[in-house]
Amino acid sequence: MRQREILRYDQTLFRDREVFEFTYMPDVLHHRDAQIRELALLARPALRGGSPRSAVLRGPPGTGKTTTARRLFAEIEETTQQIAPVYINCKQHRTPFAVFACIFEAVVGYTPPSTGKHIDEVVRLAAKRLSERDAALLVCLDDANYLYEARQFNDLLYRILRLYEGWDVRKPGVFAISSDLRLNLSTGVDERVRSVFHPTEVNFPPYAKPEILEILGDRIRQGLYPNVMPKANVTLIADLTAREQDIRIGIDLVRVAAENAENAGRRTATRKDVMDASRSIITPTLQKRAADLSEGERTLLYRIAELAQNTGADMTSGAIYEATQEYIPTGETTYRTRLRRLEEAGLIDLALRTDRGRTREVLLRFAPEQVLAACGRTGKTGAP
Ligand SMILES: Nc1ncnc2c1ncn2[C@@H]1O[C@H](COP(=O)(O)OP(=O)(O)OP(=O)(O)O)[C@@H](O)[C@H]1O
Ligand SMILES: [Mg+2]
Repeated sequence: MRQREILRYDQTLFRDREVFEFTYMPDVLHHRDAQIRELALLARPALRGGSPRSAVLRGPPGTGKTTTARRLFAEIEETTQQIAPVYINCKQHRTPFAVFACIFEAVVGYTPPSTGKHIDEVVRLAAKRLSERDAALLVCLDDANYLYEARQFNDLLYRILRLYEGWDVRKPGVFAISSDLRLNLSTGVDERVRSVFHPTEVNFPPYAKPEILEILGDRIRQGLYPNVMPKANVTLIADLTAREQDIRIGIDLVRVAAENAENAGRRTATRKDVMDASRSIITPTLQKRAADLSEGERTLLYRIAELAQNTGADMTSGAIYEATQEYIPTGETTYRTRLRRLEEAGLIDLALRTDRGRTREVLLRFAPEQVLAACGRTGKTGAP
């Protein structure tokens, strides 16, 4: 290796490490114009003295939901006093009190004392301030599925949306975000909430490869020195990311591959650096998804992976059904439910094949060997 290709111990490949943090706000938000526009439209009535409308933002992990909401809220904050936008991460704040404490802090300007205050008092003071400011409250409940799981979602929505009944304020709007596609936040609410919660659904589809290339291209230009990440590696990373349908994996792959190169004292990341990074990043994702499955779903996944190892295997859903009967005899309805669940969990794709009379082809989203390893012993079919 020539001298100049070797990195000195005090040199780095990173121009700016921060752009690889997940909380980093990108300068340009690619391919989310339609979603921003739709959400802005819902907030707009509040600019003319009316009430903002509500929305449910749905999409799998790593599709830009949080970034889009935060970007819009930052713009609102910069441009108008008519709306009081409050962004809340419900993974951190899982009770109505905790959420109202965030609203209080944003609207009143300081943290409410955590002891000796009843939630009604916190609500009253926040509402009073909103009324004095004549600002409409717009709350973003990010990762709202955590509130839902904690059985706090209904109660909280009820308190927020009916704020205008007890106080002289406009009816608030709520943007609820969920990456759990099994959960329908619009219809999953109880009767008393449904009468005041009529959200517009805003969908966040996974990014396709050209979109991934553009997003990663920006990060690489900003975060790494020139020529650290050769084009062929970026394409490889985009392929891996497209399969996972999670842009976060791509950003992480770039970072870890560059770190691998840096640690080895090289100026350029190699294909091996990317593949090593992929092993350390993708395996945990797959393991987590497989661990969340029921026993029956995992067994089915295992069998699909076994079949997929055989390049000649017929991978249509009907053929797989036949092939699984030997080991896991199930009714067809149960089989289809499990298949759908595997798709929702981001483990397989069910591609429509029109050449075979509208049948579905089952495509694994991970390499079969990786799936077999992740399913572990528990997934084994017991086949000889
Ligand atoms: N359109 C985009 N342009 C640039 N960067 C993006 C874009 N979409 C997402 N990102 C980046 O990808 C990462 C993940 O995005 P984000 O947190 O918004 O996803 P999410 O849909 O909220 O995921 P989750 O459901 O897991 O919370 C962030 O670092 C974000 O900056
Ligand atoms: Mg998010």
